[in-house]
Amino acid sequence: MYATPTSSEEGGHPVTVVSLTKMKQAGEKIACLTAYDASFATVVDRCGVDLVLVGDSLGMVIQGHSTTIPVSVDDMIYHTKAVARAVRRGFLVADMPFMSYPDGPRALENAARLMQEGGASMVKLEGGVGQLEVVDYLARRSIPVCAHLGLQPQAVHKIGGYKVQGRDPEAAVTMRKNAMALEEAGADIVLLECVPKELAASIASSAAVPVIGIGAGPDVDGQILVLYDVLNIGVGHRARFVRNFMEDAASIDEAILAYVGAVKDGSYPAPEHCYT
Ligand code: KIV
Repeated sequence: MYATPTSSEEGGHPVTVVSLTKMKQAGEKIACLTAYDASFATVVDRCGVDLVLVGDSLGMVIQGHSTTIPVSVDDMIYHTKAVARAVRRGFLVADMPFMSYPDGPRALENAARLMQEGGASMVKLEGGVGQLEVVDYLARRSIPVCAHLGLQPQAVHKIGGYKVQGRDPEAAVTMRKNAMALEEAGADIVLLECVPKELAASIASSAAVPVIGIGAGPDVDGQILVLYDVLNIGVGHRARFVRNFMEDAASIDEAILAYVGAVKDGSYPAPEHCYT
């Protein structure tokens, strides 16, 4: 039987951008998961997930598309609203979908909709140095931003597939520089997807803001996975970093509690989930 994990934010206090930074400073791992509807959001929240992401991965796992590119701002608002009605404690982040942030003013308009209509507390956008102006524009207007680096699924057709990023030394240096520049521009969280673990560790140790990983090894400040991967509902190819938490669980609650516990005690991700 899995116990609800101990957390500095336990007791129903809502997690904030400030408490996430305090968790980083205290060395407490941040457990994050996606959710797309009120029922799963209720379960995720009661299991102690610190950050709930309404990811544009919903285009794939909910809508059945082969990429996240068809997802619209209206789709994101619809799902964010549903999740926001259920989440009491977790910090709620919503993805800005493909082409919803081509410049500062349009990014602001769409981020404001995700926050005002959807109820998100932060928006996430993909991109490196090309997004510095947008991040700066949003941050100056008090929009909390998570900057997603490494594998950027919205760029799948540009990069030619879902591949590990930052493996060659030049790309690693660029990613590191971009992460620091995004923090400097005002990003409150950096998310690294499919990045060699040493590179992710070096970015996390240099950044003042929390660095959340997915396929980025254990030495970052927190982990995120797509909920359906944790519950083994996924169809098709399973990425190396995915662990099926339903394997030893008797219920969905038990699986999510096991995920949160494994993130908190550092047993997930294990070496077999990491890229080098
Ligand atoms: O869209 C999403 O769910 C994401 C996570 C995989 C990080 O961006």
